[in-house]
Amino acid sequence: MSVEAIHKNYSQLGSALIEKLYSSDYLSIGGTHSTDVLADLAGIAQGQRILDLGCGLGGPALHLAESRKCQVTGLDLVETNVLEANSRAAARGLDQRAGFQIGDAADMAFEDGTFDVVWGQDAWCHVPDKAALIAECARVLTSDGTIAFTDWLQTSDMDAVQLADVHDATVSTNMATMESYRGLLQGCGFTVRVSEDISATFIDQYRKIIARLESFEDEISNQFSPKVYGIMMQKNGAILRAFEAHLIGGGRIVAKRDAGP
Ligand SMILES: C[S@@+](CC[C@H](N)C(=O)[O-])C[C@H]1O[C@@H](n2cnc3c(N)ncnc32)[C@H](O)[C@@H]1O
Repeated sequence: MSVEAIHKNYSQLGSALIEKLYSSDYLSIGGTHSTDVLADLAGIAQGQRILDLGCGLGGPALHLAESRKCQVTGLDLVETNVLEANSRAAARGLDQRAGFQIGDAADMAFEDGTFDVVWGQDAWCHVPDKAALIAECARVLTSDGTIAFTDWLQTSDMDAVQLADVHDATVSTNMATMESYRGLLQGCGFTVRVSEDISATFIDQYRKIIARLESFEDEISNQFSPKVYGIMMQKNGAILRAFEAHLIGGGRIVAKRDAGP
């Protein structure tokens, strides 16, 4: 999936619609609960320097800065997301602890060893080159750093038509499997501490999202157009069908690099 498709999906209007469907500040389905669960598993502590890759409107980063008193940098391809996240940080007096920048997660401008934790919530499925992504995470982390993320995963073999439909609906070029992520992390010197299949939670959350979307039919049709509502229903319906057929699912991963002797 092209960079243009990411910009289109997460345009100002696109992100606003996704946020309306999901939860305040979030472009991922798990919201603050998912952030809290991952933060506990990763042992996130006050003052840690966290890099949130694919930060969207800043939901996870703002929540971590506020609730865990971390120093969070968010990175996102889409400028309007970054502007909005910075403005929300300022409005809440969090701009000393949370800042957002434009950039590509697979090719970052940060110095080596800048962060204690690299974080992601449901964003890395959009990055075509997962090997480059994990290598970049490893590079910008301290020698004993932690990678903690949730993501949409491929959970079954698919034929060409199924793959094309899934990639189209999810704006991705490929999805990692749990095993492929484990392999990439181990290859970069990380020990995988948590690799949890959270597909059942994803299916449950997605059913609620479809019900929510249906309840917004009049509002979205009047505020935007019936066509916008139709596109949202078609796309999200395809995603739910892929979840229910167990073609795709969700994973939660925490990996840590042990400092050398
Ligand atoms: C599903 S949203 C999740 C946003 C955020 N993590 C959250 O939980 O609300 C995925 C985000 O990843 C961003 N993104 C996609 N590809 C990216 C890349 N290569 N580098 C940085 N950000 C990217 C998108 O612009 C979008 O904001």
